[in-house]
Amino acid sequence: MLPKFSAFPGVAGPVVTIVLDGYGIGRSEVGNAIAAARKPTLDRLFAQYPHVRLRAHGTAVGMPSDEDMGNSEVGHNAIGAGQVYAQGAALVADAIAAGSIWAGPAWQEIVAAAKAGRGVLHCLGLFSDGNVHSHIDHLKALVARAKSEGVPTVRIHVLLDGRDVPETSALDYVEPFEAFLAGLNDAGFDARIASGGGRQNITMDRYEANWAMVDKGWRVHVLGEGPQFADCATAVRALREMHPGTIDQDLPPFVIAEAGQPIGTVQDGDAVVFFNFRGDRAIEITRAFEDAVFDKFDRQRHPKVTYAGMLQYDGDLKLPQRFLVDPPAIRNTTGEWFAKAGLAQFACSETQKFGHVTYFWNGNRSSKFEGETWQEVPSDVVPFEQRPWMKAAEIADAMIAALQSGQYRTLRCNFANGDMVGHTGHFRAATMAIEAVDLELARVLAAVDAAGGVALITADHGNADEMYEIDKKTKQPATNPDGSFKAKTAHTLNQVPLVLYDNVSGGRLGLRQTDTAGLSNIAATTANLLGFEKHASWDESLLTVK
Ligand code: 3PG
Ligand code: CO
Repeated sequence: MLPKFSAFPGVAGPVVTIVLDGYGIGRSEVGNAIAAARKPTLDRLFAQYPHVRLRAHGTAVGMPSDEDMGNSEVGHNAIGAGQVYAQGAALVADAIAAGSIWAGPAWQEIVAAAKAGRGVLHCLGLFSDGNVHSHIDHLKALVARAKSEGVPTVRIHVLLDGRDVPETSALDYVEPFEAFLAGLNDAGFDARIASGGGRQNITMDRYEANWAMVDKGWRVHVLGEGPQFADCATAVRALREMHPGTIDQDLPPFVIAEAGQPIGTVQDGDAVVFFNFRGDRAIEITRAFEDAVFDKFDRQRHPKVTYAGMLQYDGDLKLPQRFLVDPPAIRNTTGEWFAKAGLAQFACSETQKFGHVTYFWNGNRSSKFEGETWQEVPSDVVPFEQRPWMKAAEIADAMIAALQSGQYRTLRCNFANGDMVGHTGHFRAATMAIEAVDLELARVLAAVDAAGGVALITADHGNADEMYEIDKKTKQPATNPDGSFKAKTAHTLNQVPLVLYDNVSGGRLGLRQTDTAGLSNIAATTANLLGFEKHASWDESLLTVK
């Protein structure tokens, strides 16, 4: 059991954590959709309530280096677990550097299966160096190792990024990679890109928001059905011409073919590695490969393959069964320890972020702890620049109802807008996204007051705080050939706020800024507000008590 907190008995009402996804503290007003938004609620919070800045990127959230931006997986893991674990990006890089990835049974089974079958290994995943879901260096290591272990044929299926990296950067990855393959290919080895498409168009759906994306991906990667091109760079150029203004993440699918025949369909006996390390957008395609019985779309063919994920994406569901690198063993989460303390917990978001406040929050577990209630608000299936308000109002409704029910000691929610709209690169839509959140936040906070509770308002990482690419030399927004600003669709490296919304302690409670304050300090802070000492493994609390 968590011991009682000696300095404070805990607030009488509920303790609420509100994650404003993609809400960073910008360094400049230029391209800052948060600064440009009309947001009286947030302005009031920063003017009147205790607040500090938290680190939400790089090593503070378990990424390999401080050059790495934060993301929702590592951010919600750190918030929910109260401690920092080396995350997938670091674990895979380390396993490759040490060579341990090749010694494990999963890789050996992949190689053995490919050789015993037609000699074909397929590598499928997000094709960039964003380091959020994958890293192209990991893919290169897989291909080179396959060659050195005598696999004769590798077929690579690429999901073009433009979301964790600049929006039209696909060829910056495709061209050097084709050259890398050309350097490896010889009489006994043939590695080529075989299919692909934009990551928001095919394959990488998450939380079952839109299975049709996975269906579209299956057709090109597995069945080889789709518009044919001679090579990947040609496909990207042609598709851009056919769909002007479409950024990489949204490009339609394509198949690489020779004499009308796709070069990389997946057949019985092949080996397949899904090389993303992050789980949310890896689970559906993994299920399409692994599930014996499957009703999400018509697979038409279900090839008998030896399949491995880069990591195991869901330890409860054992998905996938075979994986190259062990995932972080996230233990002693707040979800678990608050459950052990007998607290009723409520978690809510819309589909696009639902797993963030449940699965990621609880350390990549898809099952609930005792006393947890999860509520999902179905997301729209539209480009979010068309609906920047998303489901903020419905999430607020759910939170207000949960607060009014009096059933929950602690509640958490995620407003997706700043991030999901930030990723579209539409500045005006992003300001509206923040305005929608501001409006709904006011409603939730009124319900917190009515319940005699307190709220911590924070974010998992930045996004809407920088909507233009900044030219590294001039430090000014980079421009397109037509003079318009180049949109930035990725997350930022900025810090995020932590505000303590407290109208109940009479000014006794505050927050302290420390040099190392980061997302992993939220768990202990929440525990103290609930009247408990932190778990021994959690990073220190930021709560001050007068
Ligand atoms: C995505 O998956 O949408 C992006 O790669 C990262 O965004 P998230 O970490 O905010 O989910
Ligand atoms: Co994001």
